[in-house]
Amino acid sequence: MTTQSTIAQSPATDAAEPLKYKTFVDKILALPFENLSSHELQQVWYLSWVAAVEFGEALRLTQEMYPDHAGLQEMILGELDTTNLALEDFQEPRDHHEFLSHFLNKHGVMEKMEAELGEHAATYLAACRALDPHTRAMTVFSREEELSGIFARFLDSAEENWDAPGLYAFKHYLTTHIVLDSSEGGHHELTNDFPIDDSVSPFFEARFATFRLVPALEASGAYDA
Ligand SMILES: [Fe+2]
Repeated sequence: MTTQSTIAQSPATDAAEPLKYKTFVDKILALPFENLSSHELQQVWYLSWVAAVEFGEALRLTQEMYPDHAGLQEMILGELDTTNLALEDFQEPRDHHEFLSHFLNKHGVMEKMEAELGEHAATYLAACRALDPHTRAMTVFSREEELSGIFARFLDSAEENWDAPGLYAFKHYLTTHIVLDSSEGGHHELTNDFPIDDSVSPFFEARFATFRLVPALEASGAYDA
């Protein structure tokens, strides 16, 4: 069993070396999310659901790996089997990805998006699932640091676009999750003692590739990797 003492003994990251995964995060943040149409926002919503499914898997693996880490256990209470996203008829304790799929189905968006992006979703999931459990755990900790900034960029899409079917629920997910992750004592603070290194780079590269499937984001040729 891995303990916090073995976490502390992990090799320190060389601060002089810029981390490659951070360049992928920066590329994601620099994508022109403000240009998304309402249909493209629905695509981002679907892709967020796919990512959240894998996040739940990785988090359950992480829970098994570090059962004695109090901050992680507290963070998990806010991600899995939780009511902290409760909205309309979604009130029972569930994982966050189930919130997203509930409203994607409720508003008839899921089927349309599966036809458009389902094949890619399978590719993304396979890339994430190919990472070893230690790396998948590290992607969880890195997501608690990076996703609030990325979610904030989604919210830069024009106000009128959010009127399309179901997008109010996606906006609820984003705004709530930014608070959960980035507030004082939030998910990032609870898990920021876990070291993160460039093993997570393939994860952020795969995430960047998913965003490039959205036409308004693909067209930004300046961001070719
Ligand atoms: Fe979180």
